[in-house]
Amino acid sequence: MDTLEAIKTRHTVGKVKADSLPRDVIEKLLDAGNDAPNHHKVRPWRFVVMTGDGRKKLGDVMAASQSARQPDLPPETFDKTRALPLRAPAVIAVGVDKPTEAKIPEVENISAASAACQNILLAAHALGLGAIWRTGEWARDAKVKEFLGFAEDQHIAGFIYIGYPEAVSEYPPRPSFEDRTRWIE
Ligand SMILES: Cc1cc2nc3c(=O)[nH]c(=O)nc-3n(C[C@H](O)[C@H](O)[C@H](O)COP(=O)(O)O)c2cc1C
Repeated sequence: MDTLEAIKTRHTVGKVKADSLPRDVIEKLLDAGNDAPNHHKVRPWRFVVMTGDGRKKLGDVMAASQSARQPDLPPETFDKTRALPLRAPAVIAVGVDKPTEAKIPEVENISAASAACQNILLAAHALGLGAIWRTGEWARDAKVKEFLGFAEDQHIAGFIYIGYPEAVSEYPPRPSFEDRTRWIE
């Protein structure tokens, strides 16, 4: 698939089949993420791949964290939370390294890790997969970060949920770039 075609035709796919993805396919996605631009060659992304029961472990941590913070929620809320990572056969958490040198602003590492996320989405699309970039409260949850091996002050750029597309939705055309652009000539 041509790059521009991939960019123009990629859309979030939230509903995917339960069928697991071969490891070599997931590795192609990681390889694409690892090809993202990054300043000072720091490669600030950290990929944590969860498949199979690995997703259940993440769900258990999410539910436990939620119940510790909000113990009065109805028990079914925790069950729903526990099941969230099971929405796709593979979930890639993308963590961001804290800068190790004063010359590196943190925003550059976050930008590079975000570029890695977009590379993964585009690669997934080019391979005929469906993917969604998710964040929400779980990307800021201290217990989730601990489980993933990230420090509490590290950012999580996102969780990329990937699988074989179940249903591909119709998307309305996006507003033009024009109202987001100023030309200086
Ligand atoms: C940083 C970031 C975080 C996101 N978090 C979520 C999320 O938590 N839940 C969700 O449904 N979609 C999330 N999305 C996906 C966006 O909702 C989606 O990209 C947007 O609707 C545009 O649709 P498209 O991906 O088809 O272009 C996130 C996207 C980005 C870039």
